[in-house]
This record gives sequence, C-alpha cells and structure tokens, in this order.
Amino acid sequence: MASTLRCLRWHGAVRALRAPIPFQRRTFISSTRLGSDALQVHRDSPENNPSVPFKFSAQNEKVIEEILARYPSQYKKAAVMPLLDLGQRQHGFTSISVMNEVARMLEMPPMRVYEVATFYTMYNRSPVGKYHVQCCTTTPCQLRDSDGIMKAIEDHLGIHHGQTTDDGLFTFTEVECLGACANAPMVQINDDYYEDLTPETTKSLLTALKNAATKTGAEMPKPGPLSGRDTCENAKGLTNLTGEPWGNETLRTDGAL
Ligand code: FES
Repeated sequence: MASTLRCLRWHGAVRALRAPIPFQRRTFISSTRLGSDALQVHRDSPENNPSVPFKFSAQNEKVIEEILARYPSQYKKAAVMPLLDLGQRQHGFTSISVMNEVARMLEMPPMRVYEVATFYTMYNRSPVGKYHVQCCTTTPCQLRDSDGIMKAIEDHLGIHHGQTTDDGLFTFTEVECLGACANAPMVQINDDYYEDLTPETTKSLLTALKNAATKTGAEMPKPGPLSGRDTCENAKGLTNLTGEPWGNETLRTDGAL
C-alpha cells in the first residue's frame, strides 16, 4: 500500500513537472464594436436613471390589455417583449424606467426584464435620433458592397457608426443580417427596409429623409428596393418557365387535379 502511494506521488510530481503552466494571454480586438456586441451595462445618466418617471399612455394601456388577453394570466410575463417594444416606441428608447414599469406590470423580477432587453439588439438602451439608420454588413450584403454603403452614410452624415448627428436627426448603427439578403445591400431605417442600395441612392435617401423632417410638404421616401424591382424578383426579368406548360398528358386524369 505504502509503495502504491509512493508511486502515485511520484507520477503526480512527474506530471506536474511535465505540464507547463498555460500562457495566459488576452487578445485585443482592434475592429470597431458593433451595436450587437456592445457590453450592455447600465450606467445612470441624467436621461436614463430609475428616478425618471415613466408610465404607459392611456392609449398604450388599452393595447397592453389586448396583448395580455392573449396569454393565461399566470403566464403574462410572456408579454415582456411586446411591452418593451411599446415602451420603447412611447419613450424613444428602452430606458431603465421603461424596463422597471414593464417588470411591475408583468409582476416579474426587474432583472428578468433587463436580461431580455439587453439580449435583443432591437431594444435601444440609449436615445437614438429621429431616424435610426441600421446598415447590415453581414456576408451577402458585404459581397454586394455594404462597405460602400457604410462609407456613403459616414461621408454624408459626417458621423461614424454608433454616433448621432448633432441635429438629432440620424443615429447610425452597423448591424448583422436583417433577413433581406435577396435585396442586399440594405439598411433598416426605423421600421422600414430600403434595399438594393448603391452609395448614390443611399445618399439621396438620406437627403430625402432630412427633407421630410425639415421641409414642409416633403414626403417620406417610399421603402423597398431602390433599384426599380418590386420586391426580390429576378433583376434580369423572367428567365425560366417562359414556355407554355406541358399538355394534359402530364396531369392526372381522375379529376383530382
Ligand atoms: S446579409 Fe444583409 S440582410 Fe442578410
């Protein structure tokens, strides 16, 4: 027994000598941070602290009643996302007061609401401008020159992504795929998608948005593809299924089709 223990101790010592202590290395990331990978830590500020009052408007309270009616009363916390969205639309961003009010209404621990609001990037945790310009730079958009779109926005607005223009009109954010890859490159501005962009159409779009905000009678630009396509149909027109369908011999004859 003693010899077994001595043997184990000996092997342990040899292993300790052989195993080098791993080199502790921390890497620095030199690329700019995306809105989606920002560390979501709350810091009190004059416009975002728990003492800033927030209550849902009477109109939104009606909407909340309708939303809550969709869930059994013991599961009303399932409504946390639509309520946060409603709060953001009313208040302009998802402040800590909005989150606390949602937690109170849904009888949830506030931390559970903070977890949701900081996980999903559509909740803006700080104020944004009148137009929140989110430019997608994920692979399909990147392959169709989202770099050019990013540069056009930066040049036109004079801000980098993550910043807001001095007049408070535009906030510029770089984001991951927004699910409109067939119309790449594209931006989301508030609730609308503007697609099939070029640097030139992007600049015209931003000018039109500014005019809509500052000049009477100027209209909001129409969302959708700015290339002339209706949606995401083939840009070269119809290239297949151009002939007449085959004759009846390929169809069933029992009348079922
Ligand atoms: S990659 Fe840009 S919308 Fe999907």
